[in-house]
Amino acid sequence: MKVSIIGTGYVGLVTGTCLAEIGHDVICVDKDNEKIDSLKKGKIPIYEPGLEELVNKNISQKRLVFTCDIEDAIKTQGIIFIAVGTPPLPDGNADLTYVEEVAKNIGNHINDYKIIVNKSTVPIGSGDWVSMIINDNVNCKDQNTGQNKLSFDVVSNPEFLREGSAIADTFCPDRIVLGSSSKKALETMKKLYEPIIKQNSGYVCEKRDKINTKEIPVVETDLISSEMIKYAANSFLATKISYINEIANVCEKVGADIKMVSKGIGLDSRIGSKFLNAGIGWGGSCFPKDVLALSQIAAEYGISTQILNTVVNVNNQQRLMIVQKVQEILKIIQGKVIGVLGISFKPDTDDTRDAPSITIMNNLVNMGARIKAFDPIVKTAPDNLNSKVIICKNPEEIFDDSDLVILATEWEEFRKIDFKKVINLMRDANLIDGRNFLDKEDLIKIGYNYMGVGR
Ligand code: UGA
Repeated sequence: MKVSIIGTGYVGLVTGTCLAEIGHDVICVDKDNEKIDSLKKGKIPIYEPGLEELVNKNISQKRLVFTCDIEDAIKTQGIIFIAVGTPPLPDGNADLTYVEEVAKNIGNHINDYKIIVNKSTVPIGSGDWVSMIINDNVNCKDQNTGQNKLSFDVVSNPEFLREGSAIADTFCPDRIVLGSSSKKALETMKKLYEPIIKQNSGYVCEKRDKINTKEIPVVETDLISSEMIKYAANSFLATKISYINEIANVCEKVGADIKMVSKGIGLDSRIGSKFLNAGIGWGGSCFPKDVLALSQIAAEYGISTQILNTVVNVNNQQRLMIVQKVQEILKIIQGKVIGVLGISFKPDTDDTRDAPSITIMNNLVNMGARIKAFDPIVKTAPDNLNSKVIICKNPEEIFDDSDLVILATEWEEFRKIDFKKVINLMRDANLIDGRNFLDKEDLIKIGYNYMGVGR
């Protein structure tokens, strides 16, 4: 099938590449010339395991093309994905400027029947709004009735991929959600995803618990429900994490171990074991934005989202709780050297947006600490911390002369640190494992003053 993806950010690039991989003819469009030039050469602007290889493979097999020519991408392809960013405005609402721009372009250039797919996370009702903008901008109208002569259908197809495992999540999703009032559009979308739905794309999803042999469930619904599913899913996952973090804080006081508690409750299939890892809280470009946006949408209808508001508060507190632990251990922060292992908001990504590590570093810097940080992929400190954080070349440097080390992101390679060796470099062997990732017993045996979260 002939597909265009407008917007080559995380979601657009992964979706376009994976659709090409399952045999479709895909044009990826972006207005950023430099980005398109480097994508044409097979260089990808983000760190996502496996993506660069897949992009190059599909470029060379001529199923994947990158361009800035949006007109051509709209005219030649039958399915147009809108995958541009919807960043949060200062009031928490999603900024729809880019979506509007794309919809106008579609209206200007539409030349026959198209399916317009909303992949960007958009406020509830945006599907109908996109339809309206396209209709307003179509030039081809009936002279007598003023009606638009060119037909199109809008489908909401929310994205559930996670950074760091985006390819596996796309090929082996838990479900595919399609929202539209048009049966024809829904049938076409199911055809588009058929190799994924039937799990015969040839891709083996190693990251999943087991190889999937069953068909992927497709949720066919209306536009609004589909848009709501996206917000409700992300907000539920954020709630799950804030909940387990709150329980972790109680565990710590009463002497229970949150890792065992998570295991004990997670084995109940009604609860489920995923997203029950307690730690320094959730971040990234999705949960913070989507939880806030859902609250804002609800507020417009006079509904106060008390659970979601608390979920956000607990998350903010969780980051500060680590700072309090540092205070408890070091007493005076001023003049102390603190190492931070991991900057990205989670492992296997270079994304530092709303990373808990940054809030923690900011607070400690403001309290007068010297911060040394290391991340396997992120090699610069965020703008506001630029001159105040020393970026180290390897994890060992973090320990050198430090009074305390915090593990902020659970990168797999941190398990390989020679903790017996680096303990000798430290001024004081304090270690806060902000993700309950390291072997507590081992580290205590070596001589660390180990502190996890909720254990
Ligand atoms: C999230 C959703 O998981 C995806 O399904 C969704 O498609 C995506 O947002 C999006 O809306 O685009 P992502 O932001 O990539 O994906 O990251 P997650 O893996 O969900 O992690 C989010 C945060 O929660 C991270 O800071 C992570 O460290 C934290 N987390 C996750 C925990 O603290 N504990 C857990 O048990 C799991």
